[in-house]
Amino acid sequence: MSVIRKVGVVGAGFMGTGIAQVSATAGYEVLLHDSRAEAMEKSLSKMRSSLDKLKAKGTFGGNTDEVMARVRKAETLKELAGCDLVIEAVYESVSVKQELLEELVKVVRPDALVSSNTSSIPMESLSEKVPNPQRFIGTHFFGPVPLMALVELVLGPETSEATLEAAKAFARSVGKTPVVVRKPSPGFLVNRIFFAAALEALRCLSEGIATPEDIDAGMRLGYGWAAGPFEVMDGAGVDVMAAVFMVLGFDPPQQVQEMLEKGWLGRKTGRGFYEYGPDGKKIIK
Ligand SMILES: NC(=O)c1ccc[n+]([C@@H]2O[C@H](COP(=O)([O-])OP(=O)(O)OC[C@H]3O[C@@H](n4cnc5c(N)ncnc54)[C@H](O)[C@@H]3O)[C@@H](O)[C@H]2O)c1
Repeated sequence: MSVIRKVGVVGAGFMGTGIAQVSATAGYEVLLHDSRAEAMEKSLSKMRSSLDKLKAKGTFGGNTDEVMARVRKAETLKELAGCDLVIEAVYESVSVKQELLEELVKVVRPDALVSSNTSSIPMESLSEKVPNPQRFIGTHFFGPVPLMALVELVLGPETSEATLEAAKAFARSVGKTPVVVRKPSPGFLVNRIFFAAALEALRCLSEGIATPEDIDAGMRLGYGWAAGPFEVMDGAGVDVMAAVFMVLGFDPPQQVQEMLEKGWLGRKTGRGFYEYGPDGKKIIK
C-alpha cells in the first residue's frame, strides 16, 4: 500500500461530487468518473459553486481555481489505473456496485485501496468482488460532504489494520472525523439509530400528531439536531431512504411508498416532505 496521492471517485452524483471536492480541497489529485458524461459536467459546476459559496461564508480560505485544477474527468474507468485510493459512490444497488467493483479491480493496482460509500449494503457482499479484500473498506461519508464532519469507516470481513489506519488518516486529511463500525450491522451505526427515530417521526405524521415542520423543529430545538428527520430524509433522497428501510428489514412506510410512486424524492426533485425552489431552497409556506 503506498501513500495516497491520487484519489479516484466513481459516481459523480450528490456524494461523489462532495467527496471529490473535499479531496481536491485537501490537496489530492482527483480523477472523477461517471458512466454519464453529463453527470461529470454537472458535478464540476456544482463543485465550483459550492467552493465559491464556502468562500463567501469564510469557511474555505483557498483558491477555487487551484482546487478545481486538481480535479480531472476520467471518461473511462481505465483512467483510474494510477489511483492510490478509489472510492465508489454509484447508485445504492448491490448489483450495480458489484459489477462496477468487478470492472474497477481489473484496472487499479492490486495494492490500491478500494472503498465504498454505500449507506446500507453489507460489506461482505461487496468485498467478495475485490481480490485482496484486505484493502477494501466502507468509507461512509455523510451529505452534504463539504459540510458534514463524519465518516463511518465500516470494516469488511477481511479489512486489514493497515487499511483501517490508511482510511482514518485519509478521512482526517479531508477534514472529517472517522468512527469505526467493527461488525456487520444493518444500517451500520448512525443510520441504524437515525432510522429508529425516523420511523417514529413517520408514525407521528401518519397519526396526525404533528406536521413535518413541527416534528423537525421539535428535534432541532429539543435535542439540538442540526436538521429534523424530514429535512434529513428530503436531503438524502426519499429513494435512498427507502432502500435503507429495506436493508433494515422494514417495508418502506406507506407515506414513503406513495412519495416514491409520485416521484417526490426530496430536494433533488423539488418536492419531498417539503417543496423546494429551483435554487434548492426549502419553500417556507
Ligand atoms: N444521498 C445521500 O445523502 C447519501 C449519504 C451517504 C451515502 N450515500 C451513498 O452514496 C452513494 C451515491 O449516492 P448519491 O446520493 O450520490 O447518488 P446519485 O444518484 O446522486 O449519484 C450516483 C451517480 O452514480 C453514477 N453511476 C451509476 N452507476 C454507475 C457506474 N456503473 N459507473 C459509473 N457511474 C455510475 C450515476 O450516473 C450517478 O451520477 C450510494 O451508495 C448512497 O447510498 C448517499
